[in-house]
Amino acid sequence: MTVQEDHHGAEVAERTEKRWATVSVLIIILLAVLAAFAGIHRATMPQARVETIDPTRLHISGEFVESNLGSVLESNSAVTVRAIGQQYSFTPACILVPAQTPITLRATSADVVHGILIQATNVNTMLVPGYVSEQFMRFERTGDYLMPCQEFCSFGHEGMWGKVKVIDKTAFAERAKNGGRLSCVGE
Ligand code: CUA
Repeated sequence: MTVQEDHHGAEVAERTEKRWATVSVLIIILLAVLAAFAGIHRATMPQARVETIDPTRLHISGEFVESNLGSVLESNSAVTVRAIGQQYSFTPACILVPAQTPITLRATSADVVHGILIQATNVNTMLVPGYVSEQFMRFERTGDYLMPCQEFCSFGHEGMWGKVKVIDKTAFAERAKNGGRLSCVGE
């Protein structure tokens, strides 16, 4: 092998190496773009199932009239909680639920965008006027959880707090046996 041939071989090797390095960097960029697109697309698109509601008529008729707010024990022994956020409180201000029970939270806003966050849980959803927010939750232990509004909703925002009180399953069933809507407001 001559010196020239040897030099040529090194050049070919270097070119090939660079080409493959470029390909692998492009693959990494492509994967990153795909991941970013999937995440952003999912976050910016409306939910697959959207429920709308007229925020100006919440108190007049339908699911979110005041007498229907609170927790209800369903026939399948799951619990549904209905709540409203408005400047600057939640109704009910204290949500009563049983431990070790599947719970569906259904909530909406009567005015501007609010948020419900239940501390020490992964419950965190926005309340948007015109839409029903639904979130599933389950508490393994009894106790009190703070529930601040987590979306700036004007000057009273910092004072907008609710509470979730998780009680024993049988105690809840006892309180729910007459039907009606339960809450722990004033307890
Ligand atoms: Cu309601 Cu912040």
